[in-house]
Amino acid sequence: MQIIRDPQSLAAAVKALKQSGESFAFVPTMGALHAGHMALVAEARKRADRVAASIFVNPMQFAAGEDLDRYPRQEEADAAMLEEAGCDLLWMPTAKQIYADGFATAIRVAGVGERWEGEARPGHFDGVATVVAKLLIAMQPDVAMFGEKDFQQLAVIRRMVADLGLAVEVLGVPTVRDADGLALSSRNAYLSADDHRRALALPRALEKAREQILAGEPVGPVIAAAKQALIAAGFLKIDYVALVDADTLEPLESPAGDMRLIAAAAIAGTRLIDNVRVVSDTVSETRSPPR
Ligand code: PAJ
Repeated sequence: MQIIRDPQSLAAAVKALKQSGESFAFVPTMGALHAGHMALVAEARKRADRVAASIFVNPMQFAAGEDLDRYPRQEEADAAMLEEAGCDLLWMPTAKQIYADGFATAIRVAGVGERWEGEARPGHFDGVATVVAKLLIAMQPDVAMFGEKDFQQLAVIRRMVADLGLAVEVLGVPTVRDADGLALSSRNAYLSADDHRRALALPRALEKAREQILAGEPVGPVIAAAKQALIAAGFLKIDYVALVDADTLEPLESPAGDMRLIAAAAIAGTRLIDNVRVVSDTVSETRSPPR
């Protein structure tokens, strides 16, 4: 695996890849890699001849007071994992290389980026969209992989790529979970064993809400009960629990089409997000009775 740190070497590597005629897939990350990231790499290997990854803890997507400074950094272990997984190229730029002095551009995705994470973390998606645009422009991959774990982020990136006309196919990869059900996240490293156990209330509340909605129970009370379950488990701050349209991320008061239950809440000072898919053609009470 080729490890690249400077822009000139990256440009040369990208040029060589392009000239080889081989297709290549890109997996952008912030490092502290786990099996969720590796699922993206595995899918990338299926989709393309070559695989490139990046590790960049992007300051622009962290607000003041968030965890930029304590975000886990483990370059060597990450590089070893990527090599083992069959990654061909790893790019690890510095903040100065991405944001040169005088950097003044931001990409804002309205609509899908406005609610939920957009409200709870103002400016976060501007940072994500801007850095992902920069990474994609520098890498010029044929496909780029993103996790459904960050469901709204995936929607924001799809919108940004379409709006800017970037010649890359965006692929979503299903969420990888621990055996106990907690969605893998680099931030799980902040949780003590006891916090981790209590955090399981998040996937369980979403799963229960999904079943209730599929059983035809009204959305409002189902969401209220999910929030209550999180509070009972020790989540102190709930940013949102919502049933949304999977494409627009707009909230739904009653089931329709392809939906997601999305949630963000903090336990012991660690903010966790999760989501599950809900498909309405199986919602019992929304079906018309046979005539
Ligand atoms: P990071 O949190 O490192 O995640 C990198 C990619 O891995 C994202 O596409 C994310 O959705 C995916 N991912 C994380 N946990 C996952 C899991 N349990 N299952 C499946 N996929 C998972 O997301 C970012 O970095 C950044 O915002 C980035 C897109 C790199 C821009 O800075």
